[in-house]
Amino acid sequence: MDMSEVICGCVGVTAQDIKDAMNNGATTLEEVQEATNAGTCCGGCVDKIEEIMIAK
Ligand code: FES
Repeated sequence: MDMSEVICGCVGVTAQDIKDAMNNGATTLEEVQEATNAGTCCGGCVDKIEEIMIAK
């Protein structure tokens, strides 16, 4: 996966940003959302966020 890929277009969060949030202790979707704001606007990217979280 290209870690610079923008996952959440609404707030411009990349796959790397999601990984960083997880490395900083976020373990749930809610915590990743809190840390990055990804998925908090239109919600259309939530499935993609979850995919990345599972993919590690
Ligand atoms: S694309 Fe992520 S909240 Fe809209």
